[in-house]
Amino acid sequence: MPTKVEKDHISGTETTGHEWDGISELNTPLPKWWLYVFYACVIWSVAYFVFYPAIPFSDGATKGLLGYNSRVEVEQIVAEAKQAKSKWMDQIAAKDLEAITGDEELMQFIQAGGRTMFGDNCAPCHGAGGQGRPGGYPTLADDDWIWGGDLDNIYYTVAHGIRNVTDEDARLNDMPRYGADELLEPAQINDVAEYVLSLSNKATDNDAAARGAETYAEECSACHGEDGKGLQDLGGPNLADAIWLYGGEKEEIVAQISAPKQGVMPAWGQRLSEADVKMLTIYVHSYLSGQ
Ligand code: HEC
Ligand code: HEC
Repeated sequence: MPTKVEKDHISGTETTGHEWDGISELNTPLPKWWLYVFYACVIWSVAYFVFYPAIPFSDGATKGLLGYNSRVEVEQIVAEAKQAKSKWMDQIAAKDLEAITGDEELMQFIQAGGRTMFGDNCAPCHGAGGQGRPGGYPTLADDDWIWGGDLDNIYYTVAHGIRNVTDEDARLNDMPRYGADELLEPAQINDVAEYVLSLSNKATDNDAAARGAETYAEECSACHGEDGKGLQDLGGPNLADAIWLYGGEKEEIVAQISAPKQGVMPAWGQRLSEADVKMLTIYVHSYLSGQ
């Protein structure tokens, strides 16, 4: 090593004295701030190593002087959250639906908790905001109710479900298969479909609609109402409001009359707790749309 300090004659920077083929190495030290940060990190890591769990062994990591354990911490947080939740859920279980809707604090809890629970259980069929999905999954976010939109009716629907085989109290009403079981001639089905369309001013053949009116009165009004506005006691949907479970095109209506689809909904009373069902009922009623 040369003892004399040599300077690079182009940049004026000291060199380390190393030289290869006439190229000399400049001595450019690390910036001070960087070095201090580096030393601080080293000191920090040693301190961390002493105080916190650090080196992993097969039977667990070294404990550290503070005895910190992230798993215990998480368990504590979960336990606290559970306790806080059960406080609300106990109140929901104890009160009746009307009383709950009058309790502002409980309603705040239901708005948040109900959204999560709706997302977990109901959104796959009814959409995240309750907007429904084509193919028989009704929107829960409008004022059009098949089985009734007051608290008691929504509760019953959610608790027992619709046309399922697991709950004998499930809501049940099956529209006859007018085409498949040859209860009506194809021409009659065409005419009554035109009549159904005329209820929302969409008929394309007014003569056919007029002929269909008679069939409607005889065959359909018992479930869909004389005016076609639906009968919630029987779950016969409103046919006059241009809101459709299975589509409002002529072919779709003819298909429904010929071989009706029957929507099925699970009985949530068999899957969730009483308090959960109440929470969902009120969430649907108050935060999506109810009557
Ligand atoms: C597997 C699909 C499915 C799931 C999951 C589901 N539903 Fe339904 N739901 C339906 C169908 C289908 C109907 C319409 C049945 C019919 O045609 O009458 C319905 C109808 C309803 C109705 C009656 C609507 C009305 O207009 O009267 C309510 C209320 C309801 N669901 C709430 C819920 C809630 C709350 C959940 C979550 C706990 C849920 N549903 C989960 C399929 C489902
Ligand atoms: C025994 C009761 C009953 C009778 C009678 C009945 N329906 Fe229905 N209808 C229903 C029910 C219940 C539904 C809903 C099915 C569902 O929710 O999945 C329905 C659904 C429909 C739909 C689909 C509505 C939509 O929103 O997509 C049409 C259209 C319809 N009916 C027309 C008729 C016509 C026309 C007749 C007479 C020829 C008739 N129904 C007779 C019970 C009945």
